[in-house]
Amino acid sequence: MRVIIVKDYQEMSKRAAKIVANRMKRKPDLVLGLATGSTPLGMYSEFIRMHKEEGLDFSQVRSFNLDEYCGLSSDHPQSYHYFMYDKLFNHINIRPENIYIPRGDVENAHIFCEWYEKKIKKEGGMDLQILGIGRDGHIGFNEPGSSLGSRTRIKTLTKETIEDNARFFKKKEEVPRYAITMGLGTISEAKECLLLASGTNKAEAIQKSIEGPVSAEITASLLQLHPRVMIIADEEAAQNLRQKDYYQYAEKMAEKLEVNQES
Ligand code: F6R
Repeated sequence: MRVIIVKDYQEMSKRAAKIVANRMKRKPDLVLGLATGSTPLGMYSEFIRMHKEEGLDFSQVRSFNLDEYCGLSSDHPQSYHYFMYDKLFNHINIRPENIYIPRGDVENAHIFCEWYEKKIKKEGGMDLQILGIGRDGHIGFNEPGSSLGSRTRIKTLTKETIEDNARFFKKKEEVPRYAITMGLGTISEAKECLLLASGTNKAEAIQKSIEGPVSAEITASLLQLHPRVMIIADEEAAQNLRQKDYYQYAEKMAEKLEVNQES
């Protein structure tokens, strides 16, 4: 696990975008796992800038989003479909047929979830999975208690998650109570994971995920078992890390290595 501590949100976003862009240059038909929420917004803006100013090419990229609220149609302004098109897809050259986002408005969610899993497999699995983290330590909407081997399915959101996400809705009551999310087993099969975290409200979850026991209570802790994980946390999110000094030192030492791990 690589823990990269950066100054602030802006630096986290730029660093993350650069890493993803490097992967895309190496493999133009990269299969990207994408997240929504506030955390990846800066990275998405940076993708758009890189696409417009530097010709970063998304034409062969395939993307799978982590989750979607149940009960919201894809044109609902608070749906993750809407979010992804508004914040990223409408501004880059990704092909619509290469975009996959769970559907929250299907008649039979179970059949849909099975289809989504099969589709991920058919496309070769995620090369790089982008993740944010919830205050309760969730990745995707894998709330505490999620099976560590879970697959794409419906999850009931915790009160904490509903409160946190109420900022996007007019009233807290409007926040859907369920979501379809890739499972922890699904996420673990990504060849590489990149988790981003910014702000003091993520500090506890980040400390427990990186330095606590692997447990279904903090589902991001499962990443400790993954062979290729990078976590980029800003100073505020990293403030509780006990081994913070070592992570910073290790990063400096890694820069001196001949093989740059990032490119
Ligand atoms: C969203 C997702 C969630 C968020 C997490 C953090 O697709 O999978 O796990 O990454 O809830 O949300 P923000 O970034 O809004 O703090």
